[in-house]
Amino acid sequence: MGASTIKLAKANLNVTEPTVEELKKALFYPAGGLTPAPEVPQPNIFPFEWRVETPKLAEIYERAKLEGFNPASIPWATLDPDSFTADERVAMMYWWALLSNFDSSGPAVFARAMIHAFEVHEEDPVRKCFFSITRDEVNHEECCQRAIQRLVPGGPLNFEPRSELEHAAVNNIQWLYHNGGRYWTGFNNAVGKYPLAVLFTSFMLGEVASSTLFHGMARATRHPVFEQVFRSVGRDESRHLQICITLLEQQWPGLSDEYRGFVTKQLRAGFVFLSMVLWEPPMMFWQLPDYFLQNHRVLLNIARRAGLGILSVDDQAENWRVAIAKVRKLLERWRIEFPAIPELDIEGVDVGDISDADIIPVF
Ligand SMILES: [Fe+2]
Ligand SMILES: [Fe+2]
Repeated sequence: MGASTIKLAKANLNVTEPTVEELKKALFYPAGGLTPAPEVPQPNIFPFEWRVETPKLAEIYERAKLEGFNPASIPWATLDPDSFTADERVAMMYWWALLSNFDSSGPAVFARAMIHAFEVHEEDPVRKCFFSITRDEVNHEECCQRAIQRLVPGGPLNFEPRSELEHAAVNNIQWLYHNGGRYWTGFNNAVGKYPLAVLFTSFMLGEVASSTLFHGMARATRHPVFEQVFRSVGRDESRHLQICITLLEQQWPGLSDEYRGFVTKQLRAGFVFLSMVLWEPPMMFWQLPDYFLQNHRVLLNIARRAGLGILSVDDQAENWRVAIAKVRKLLERWRIEFPAIPELDIEGVDVGDISDADIIPVF
C-alpha cells in the first residue's frame, strides 16, 4: 500500500490523530519526583553524549570519509606474477608479510584504542577519528593480503615452500609474527594503563615514519599497482599523523612529569620496533635466530632488484632521520626530551633497555 492509499483509508474511517497535549495526558509524574537511575559504573561506554572540544578533529574525520580509497579498485590483475621469477615472487611476498607485521595489526590495535576512547568518554571527534584510522588500517591490511595472494597464493604461511629461499622466507615470517604477538600482548596491557597522550606519541612516530616511507616507495617502485598502493596508503598515513598531532597538542599540556619521561622511552621503543620494516632492527626487544637478519637482507635485496620500491639501506636511514627530526621538533614545544638513537648518531636521553611492555607504536 502506498502512502496516498493509507491517507485515503484514514480519511474514510474518519480517524483523527491525537494532539501532543492529548498524548501527554498519559505521562506519569510521581508526586515525590522521578527516581534517579543508578550511575553507570565507569569505565563504561554508557552514558552517551556527543561532546566536541576539538573541531579540527571533526574536520579531519569528515575529510577521512571522502579521501579513503578502495583496495578492490586497484587493478591487481595487471600485476602479472609470471613476469617475475619464483625467487622474486617469494622475496616480494616476504616484504608484504613484513609490512603486515605492522600494518595488519593496525585494525585490531586501533579498534581496541577506539573502544578505550569510548570507555573513558573521550570527546566525539576523538572516537570518530579512531574509527576512521581503524577503517583505513583495514584497507592497508587488505593491500598486504591482496599483494601476497597475487604473488604467492596461500602466502604468507599456507603454501608449500619448495626452494631453500622459500623455506627461509616462511621461517623468517614465523619469527616476525612471533615478535608481533609479543607486541600485541604488550599493547593490550598498555592501552588501559596510560593516558591518550602517551599512547598517541607512540602512534605518532609510526605515522610520521610510515607516511615518509610510503611516499618514498611510491617514487621508487617500478610497478604501477604498487605505486598506486603506496600513494594511497601514504595519503592515509599523513592524515593519521594530522590526527595524532591535533590530539597531542590538546593533550600534552596536561601531561605530568612522570609521563613525560615515559613518552621519551616510548619514542625509543618506537624506533626499536619500527626499524624492522623501516631500516634494520637494533639488537634489543626482537627475539630472532642469528641467521634471521642475513636471510632478511637476501630476501629484501631480491625484492628491491625486482622493482618493489624498497629504498636502499642508506636511504632508509635518511628517511628515519628526517622522520625523527620532525617528531623531535614537535616535542620540544612541550618540554618532552628525546631519547638517544646511537644507531643513527642522534644524541639524547639514555632510556636503557626496551622490553615487551614498552612497545606500543603502530603504523
Ligand atoms: Fe596509520
Ligand atoms: Fe597503516
